[in-house]
Amino acid sequence: MSVDLAKDIALLKRKKNAIILAHYYQVSEIQEVADYVGDSLGLSQKAAETNKDIIVFAGVHFMAETAKILNPNKNVLLPDLLAGCSLADSCPPSAFQKLVETHPNHVVITYINCSAEIKAMSDLVCTSSNAEQIVNSIPEGVPIIFAPDKNLGKYIQKKTGREMLLWDGSCIVHEAFSFDKLLKLYQKHPGSKIIAHPESESHILETANYVGSTAGMIDYVKKNPSEKFIVATEAGILHKMKEQVPHTLLIPAPAEEDNTCACSECAFMKMNTLQKLYDCLLNETPQIEVRETIRKKAILPIERMLELSK
Ligand code: 13P
Ligand code: SF4
Repeated sequence: MSVDLAKDIALLKRKKNAIILAHYYQVSEIQEVADYVGDSLGLSQKAAETNKDIIVFAGVHFMAETAKILNPNKNVLLPDLLAGCSLADSCPPSAFQKLVETHPNHVVITYINCSAEIKAMSDLVCTSSNAEQIVNSIPEGVPIIFAPDKNLGKYIQKKTGREMLLWDGSCIVHEAFSFDKLLKLYQKHPGSKIIAHPESESHILETANYVGSTAGMIDYVKKNPSEKFIVATEAGILHKMKEQVPHTLLIPAPAEEDNTCACSECAFMKMNTLQKLYDCLLNETPQIEVRETIRKKAILPIERMLELSK
């Protein structure tokens, strides 16, 4: 890592009374300078409780947008404004509005990987670590729309036994894992534990020994006595995982198209660099903006989620 740049970021952060929040999928150099590294739930909890003036959100747009919804008077910065999310993009507001309007008796639960406009049409937001709990909070018999991730939706249907109306969205990174290559990898490493993020497809999740959020996966490898794990999520997670279990073999699950590095990276998450993080803190741009009419509606399902996740 560039030591000077990291030092300059630390100085600037203090001078400007800023906090750096980073997702586990960020490049290692960014995770190293962050005040907090976590999963989507942990990051929104941190964003909700911070008293700093500036939040630098090293993650993707919907995450920084959630922080801004919770902190309308703070300056929320995203190192690269183009850091989006295929899953959030798979749910355009106009199409989603039609679905909601044609199913007025449904409770609308949306995965946090969606835009502020979609959150504004929702009753509850959830993340991969609390989706089951959020769905279970809805009384039996009340119909549910779940969007935008169909893979997480199908998984939660199985876990809760609740039929839900699922939006047909997905994450390009987690859908790219190859089941056949995963089985071959397992044959090479018999006895290893397969751990997977619930954005992965059903056949991967059915084979996995553990399914959970990025924070949940790290916790699992810490507590499980196994010496080898096949890890089916974005490769950035390996940085913190290795720190937690330095003597354990962590094998990234292979993607279908991947014949070289055998790992899966989210191109959106990787748009943020240490240099861009420094520049955005220095210049206080790019800033996240959310229209007040949308923000006022979008904060309600996020606050309900935070309340249920205490
Ligand atoms: P979590 O942070 O909830 O594990 O979700 C991972 C993800 O894909 C974020 O986009
Ligand atoms: Fe979106 Fe998938 Fe990247 Fe997460 S890993 S930010 S869901 S594209």
